[in-house]
Amino acid sequence: MTRREALAVLGKGGLAVALFDFMQRREARAEAVPPAPAYRGTHQVKPLPFEAGKLKGLSEKLITSHHQNNYAGAVKRLNQIQQEIGTLPKDAALYQIGSLKREELIATNSMILHECYFANLGGDGKASGTILDLLKAQYGTVETWEQDFRLTGLSLGGGSGWVVLNYNPHEKAVRHYWAADHTQSLAGGVPLLVMDMYEHAYQMDYGANARGYVDAFFQNINWDDVNRRTEDARPRK
Ligand SMILES: [Fe+2]
Repeated sequence: MTRREALAVLGKGGLAVALFDFMQRREARAEAVPPAPAYRGTHQVKPLPFEAGKLKGLSEKLITSHHQNNYAGAVKRLNQIQQEIGTLPKDAALYQIGSLKREELIATNSMILHECYFANLGGDGKASGTILDLLKAQYGTVETWEQDFRLTGLSLGGGSGWVVLNYNPHEKAVRHYWAADHTQSLAGGVPLLVMDMYEHAYQMDYGANARGYVDAFFQNINWDDVNRRTEDARPRK
């Protein structure tokens, strides 16, 4: 049966067409040479860098769910999307590639930001090191920065998004930014401290009390990790 004949049998409903295309591309992929790295979809889930039950004010159940469902889900989704892009025919409809590329960016940033988020938790919350000097230089005092960062987080409460303290190469300084979803990020910025403000990051423990979650987040910041990222992000002199 040819593709045209099969489509005639299945009808031109969107679901039937999409299903047939996917099966055909999967068969073709199995017969083809190994895909190029861009289309292999081999990203791996990183384990939590701390014991899930050891954080202050953030339960083991919440952290485990967040890591296994939201973060690991993004990694799995990203792998599927990149493999799928690799199977698209040269004459693929532009809405197909457009949709997949959009989803690829969402899943990629979700993976990266979640990895930063978990890596900058598990500490004692006591800021020290290079980052303090950079925060003072940019915001006047660390307290001013912290108030600004906390308020930015609260402005996202009840919705979704991230607050990301970046090293901004354009400004050659640190600055935090608001992001309403995974795709809003500073061009060229390097994330130094990341706070997840999606409801899944706190609803299980705090309900609608985003302020309680932000307090808990600050108690658990791993400033050593933030300093490591800061040293990596700054240009070598
Ligand atoms: Fe999250």
